[in-house]
Amino acid sequence: MDPAFWQQGWKENQIAFHEEEVNPLLSKNIHRLALNRGDRIFVPLCGKTSDLAWLSAQGFRVVGIELNQSAVEEVFVNMGTDPDVSDLGDYVHYRSETVEILVGDFFDLSAEILGPIEATYDRAALVALPAPMRGSYAAHLMALTGTAPQLLIALDYDQSQMDGPPFSVSGGEISRLYSDRYSQELVSSAAISGRLAKRCTGTENAWLL
Ligand SMILES: C[S@@+](CC[C@H](N)C(=O)[O-])C[C@H]1O[C@@H](n2cnc3c(N)ncnc32)[C@H](O)[C@@H]1O
Repeated sequence: MDPAFWQQGWKENQIAFHEEEVNPLLSKNIHRLALNRGDRIFVPLCGKTSDLAWLSAQGFRVVGIELNQSAVEEVFVNMGTDPDVSDLGDYVHYRSETVEILVGDFFDLSAEILGPIEATYDRAALVALPAPMRGSYAAHLMALTGTAPQLLIALDYDQSQMDGPPFSVSGGEISRLYSDRYSQELVSSAAISGRLAKRCTGTENAWLL
């Protein structure tokens, strides 16, 4: 899943991962991050998710990173805000009062560019990556964010039912990736639903790390 794969998907509007509504496991579990208004939440591989605007409406500051510039522009159009756009290192930095998005590669991101954050929200980021990339993703995320609490939404299904993305990432794998720095608690679990349910059966799990 190299950048070209994702850019092609955006170009051809092959974005089945995109949900128009706020992810219900986010709204149900956000309180578990024990955040205060004004806290800054990191959303890696954010696409154009409505979750960014929702988090901002809850009073948080949000910082995302995404490869595709058009997706990022759409986030601000949908919010009806006109962001400031500037260069920040190798990134194009879109910024409104409460939502910032860096356009560029997550794997090149430094903690200096990201800045301090109080929590991470991962929906369809870890599970977007094939197994050989997931170790590097988790290690880099921990290097960027320290032990800031994380709400991680992952899918668990029999990988023989379909090719990813999204890939199946079990609780055992999450433990192998994150247990050096995090404790892990399954806070919600629901049957896979929506379009994806036509391709596989399994669970969508929210983990608090
Ligand atoms: C499965 S989508 C999920 C998007 C979003 N989290 C959501 O819930 O809709 C994965 C996204 O990650 C982006 N992406 C993939 N690899 C990336 C990377 N190395 N750096 C930044 N973004 C990346 C893709 O362009 C795509 O928009």
